[in-house]
Amino acid sequence: MLVTSKYRLATLATKSNVYSVVGSAHNRIRVHAFSTSFWRRTITATPHSDPTKSEAPPPATKQGEQLERFQSLAEANTTNVNRDNDLAKPDRHDLSPAAWAHPGFNFIDMNNVAVAHHEPKNFADKIARNALLTVRWCFDKATGYKHPPPGHEDDPKYIVTDKQWLQRIVFLESIAGVPGMVGGMVRHLQSLRLLRRDRAWIETLLEEAYNERMHLLTFMQLTNPGIFMRGMLLIAQGVFFNSFFIAYLVNPRICHRFVGYLEEEAVVTYTRCINDIEKGLIPSWDNAPVPDIAKKYWKMADNATIKDLLYYVRADECKHREVNHTLGNLKQNVDRNPYAFVVDCGREQPAKDLKSNISHPVGWDRDEIAA
Ligand SMILES: [Fe+2]
Ligand SMILES: [Fe+2]
Repeated sequence: MLVTSKYRLATLATKSNVYSVVGSAHNRIRVHAFSTSFWRRTITATPHSDPTKSEAPPPATKQGEQLERFQSLAEANTTNVNRDNDLAKPDRHDLSPAAWAHPGFNFIDMNNVAVAHHEPKNFADKIARNALLTVRWCFDKATGYKHPPPGHEDDPKYIVTDKQWLQRIVFLESIAGVPGMVGGMVRHLQSLRLLRRDRAWIETLLEEAYNERMHLLTFMQLTNPGIFMRGMLLIAQGVFFNSFFIAYLVNPRICHRFVGYLEEEAVVTYTRCINDIEKGLIPSWDNAPVPDIAKKYWKMADNATIKDLLYYVRADECKHREVNHTLGNLKQNVDRNPYAFVVDCGREQPAKDLKSNISHPVGWDRDEIAA
């Protein structure tokens, strides 16, 4: 008995030599070549055939080799699959490199970072400033923060504990990570929609959002907000994201000015926090180590402390202050982003390092930037 079941499938094909593949129940494959205008595929089952007398050659065809290769690759993949759901293990996250590597700052420049303020110059600036003051009032109420007037920094009623600092910082960073993402997203969609280039703003805006989220993730290693705080973050993000999104569609220039003012406040907050540590008002942070995620992102030394970390974060904030005030001075759909490419024109230009911030803490005017 040679054939117990047999069927044929025919379809149009080339008039040159083609192949008919005959396979048996014992996984032997024979390839016959013959001339025909039809491609024929026949599968024949031979349950009682004698293997020693079989005419079928070993599976040495190219298809057979490739099948064996796929099989071995699949087996290799199977052995690498970790059955413990390792994707969810927190320590695995730290293995991935930063999407936007931090540019790196030196200690002298970080030490020279100072509080600065952009005086509103026109009606749009005043809108941005008043909007920021309104947001800040809500923010201070939500975190129970009272900023001391000059000369009252050491007054006990203005003392902020480490827990209150972390509460304020986490709230601040969770909001601060929104504008860059909204601005980058809107400009990305605009580029797709209008079929034109973006002048390199998107990357800087997304990098800022990433940097703010790294701030948040770092401080989240030091605290664990309760359900009330998480509820507040949910509401605040919902309101702020949608408001900022609509505002960015209407007038992105005012939005960048607003972010510039927001970052001014961030520099004020971190400067006061550093001063409090140096005065010994936050004893738990005197020699507290820095979370690993921060050491890796800012390339900090192993013995770095929270105070060192705050210098880095404050330097980032002052850079956001400069960048957003500069972007607020530019023509949004015409001008290139001066931070994406530094033109060598014989005079100082905006750059990613802190040097351009020391000379221009609240941004660069349009006519200072090389074309
Ligand atoms: Fe931040
Ligand atoms: Fe910032």
